[in-house]
Amino acid sequence: MEGEKKQVTCYLLFSLSTAVIGSLQFGYNTGVINAPEQKLQAFFNETWVKRYGKPIEPGVSIFVWSLAVAIFSVGGMVGSFSVGVVADKFGRRKSMFLVNILALIGGGLMGLCTLCSSFEMVIAGRLVIGLFCGLFTGLTPMYVGEVSPTPLRGAFGTLHQLGVVLGILISQIFGLEFLLGSDKLWPLLLALTVVPAVIQCVLLPFCPESPRYLLINLNQEEEARKALVRLRGFEDVSKDMQEMKEESVKMNMEKKVTIPELFRTATYRQPLLIAVVLQLSQQLSGINAVFYYSTGIFESAGVTQPIYATIGAGAVNVVFTVVSLFLVERAGRRSLHLIGLGGMAVSALLMTIALLLKHIESLSYLSIGAVFAFVAMFEMGPGPIPWFIVAELFSQGPRPAAMAIAGFSNWTANFFVGISFPKLEKLCGPYVFIIFMIFLIFFFIFTFFRVPETKGRTFEDIAREFRGASPPAATSVQEAGGDMASTSPVKEKVPLV
Ligand code: GLC
Repeated sequence: MEGEKKQVTCYLLFSLSTAVIGSLQFGYNTGVINAPEQKLQAFFNETWVKRYGKPIEPGVSIFVWSLAVAIFSVGGMVGSFSVGVVADKFGRRKSMFLVNILALIGGGLMGLCTLCSSFEMVIAGRLVIGLFCGLFTGLTPMYVGEVSPTPLRGAFGTLHQLGVVLGILISQIFGLEFLLGSDKLWPLLLALTVVPAVIQCVLLPFCPESPRYLLINLNQEEEARKALVRLRGFEDVSKDMQEMKEESVKMNMEKKVTIPELFRTATYRQPLLIAVVLQLSQQLSGINAVFYYSTGIFESAGVTQPIYATIGAGAVNVVFTVVSLFLVERAGRRSLHLIGLGGMAVSALLMTIALLLKHIESLSYLSIGAVFAFVAMFEMGPGPIPWFIVAELFSQGPRPAAMAIAGFSNWTANFFVGISFPKLEKLCGPYVFIIFMIFLIFFFIFTFFRVPETKGRTFEDIAREFRGASPPAATSVQEAGGDMASTSPVKEKVPLV
């Protein structure tokens, strides 16, 4: 235990914090559009009047606004899908450095939109910043996972979601009218994303490249050893080196699985289905309907200071992510995910009741309570778990392809919620959260029957369960060089590097 403790050096914490700035950026840009909603819509209208001599039609206005919100996820889809290629070509550290250029471009476009009287610049900026965030939703967890000592990889893994929720909270606070959410300053609020980008670029050169990347991808053993010595704070890093070499051998044995192969191979079908459905459960729970549009939701529920309720939701979000961080290794992933989904379904029902009864003044508090409960339950399981469980469901060979598919599914669902929520709200009125409630019930049932518990189990153990679950697949996996490779009999057959 003592040896493990010593592995946490200031240098490691510094490197982790630098990487988590990327998660913070993802959170910031998720939440930032919420508070200045009306100012942005007014700006869209002004530009329209200036250009076409008449006010924007309500239908067009809703469309342009939803586009500005949701195009962020289109960027995210492309970014998350390309993360494997970028990270392997440039390395982890350099990729993070280079990807920050996108934040400078995106932030610049949004910040200068009023000067140029162009709402298109907001939309283009949101697309670029989405691309940037999509890349970081892969890069940060990858770097954090790769530099962390094995016994602490799970705990540090949750730092990504913690970064996200802190970013959301910061965007909500800065979005206050008397800070940056005013009529004049909101473009600055959107442009502020360049500041962490610059900070991260200044700090990154002091961080090490991932030792795993140096050894496994570049075969630079000495460089990898040096990076490890600095990260761990002691000279004898042979244990880590050994573990990485084994991983390297395993990776060479497990033929890299491409995305089409992942779909074709029967044994991967079950874990892939679970991975994708878990990502969908995160997004179709409706969480981002709250984080993109909560100010509007609170307003329609009759809350007088909606922005403070929004900030309250952000604070609850942070607190419960920390709660989950402590629970996840005790209660297990499956049970926390079930509790989260069930709790969210009940909260969605409460939200509907609150919206229906908004004419009773005291009940506006019910809407706040219901939204807070919704967010709290989200962070118990559906928030953090899908991000890291994919890596647990797949072994070394198919993992990158599986993560690309999972990330892509997540961002696609994020896009559909973002683009359709304002229209759905118009269509369904106070019943809009019933849609999410139905999804939540479906995901609860799916998780109950299909998702295995992965807490404390080795990858091989989990993979074995899937092989057992779909016996006819055994041959195709062997053909694909799949997760069987981590078993010892196969090891012996493979020439070592
Ligand atoms: C997760 C989701 C993200 C959401 C956030 C809320 O990270 O991926 O879309 O906004 O949680 O905390």
